[in-house]
Amino acid sequence: MKSYTNILTSLQDEVLTITVNRPDKLNALNHATIQEIGDAVVAAEKNHEVAAIIITGAGPKAFVAGADISEFANYSVEQGKQLSADGHVVFNRIETCSKPVIAAVNGFALGGGCELAMACHLRVASDNAKFGQPEVKLGVIPGYAGTQRLVQLIGKGKALELLMTADMIGAVEAQQFGLVNHVVSPDQLMTKTLEIIGKLKAQSPHALAGIIRCVDAYFKDGENGFQTEIEEFGKCFGTADFKEGVGAFLEKRKAEFVRK
Ligand code: COA
Repeated sequence: MKSYTNILTSLQDEVLTITVNRPDKLNALNHATIQEIGDAVVAAEKNHEVAAIIITGAGPKAFVAGADISEFANYSVEQGKQLSADGHVVFNRIETCSKPVIAAVNGFALGGGCELAMACHLRVASDNAKFGQPEVKLGVIPGYAGTQRLVQLIGKGKALELLMTADMIGAVEAQQFGLVNHVVSPDQLMTKTLEIIGKLKAQSPHALAGIIRCVDAYFKDGENGFQTEIEEFGKCFGTADFKEGVGAFLEKRKAEFVRK
């Protein structure tokens, strides 16, 4: 497996774990780190040995404490725009990845960290996690689609409050808002994440990819999600997964889907 400078990757039981590994900087995302996350996700999507991806942060304190402020401190308007555009490409890659991507949020998820977690399909948080979009305090706005995905996940009113006040919220409140799926104690974070992945691994990979495409379509300008669903539903009937899934049901046995 390729080695990276700012992230660690490990593959076990068909699960690729990507760990943002800059604990001294609370895993702040510099440009290189974002590119590496994108590269690792693209490689995982092509790798038949990978069923699902976990994104987490190194150390006990932070998932990701935001974009690396020291890197962009002297950026021009054009450089700022490019930084945001590059980040959008990578975070879109995560969101549209055909394999499930789960954020295991183990501490601060601020700014770009909250945005990274929101780009994932599901979020499991430890009860010491803290979420927020504090960019406004720095005189900027979220640049990795935080203004969009936060609204999608928690609605306009709550999103505007978090974006405009820079308030940090705890994991339990984040769950009440619908920002995270589950909250567990820090020592249970990976156990819970892997428990969910266990359920996903038992499903048809083709159908999971179709669900991701259809749900993404709901939020895509110019795309009719209802029509996408009709297309994706139809496609299922031509897959080995469908034959296996329906065959297994009729034969009263557990389906065994093949990843390819
Ligand atoms: N960018 C760059 N460096 C960061 C960072 C970021 N987003 N977040 C933390 N760091 C660095 C700190 O500069 C410090 O580095 P140093 O030891 O070389 O000085 C190190 O990580 C530890 O952070 P520190 O602030 O000392 O920890 P803390 O426990 O006192 O505070 C936070 C934790 C998360 C509240 C605080 O680090 C913070 O506010 N970070 C910025 C959050 C933010 O605004 N994110 C959005 C960016 S657009």
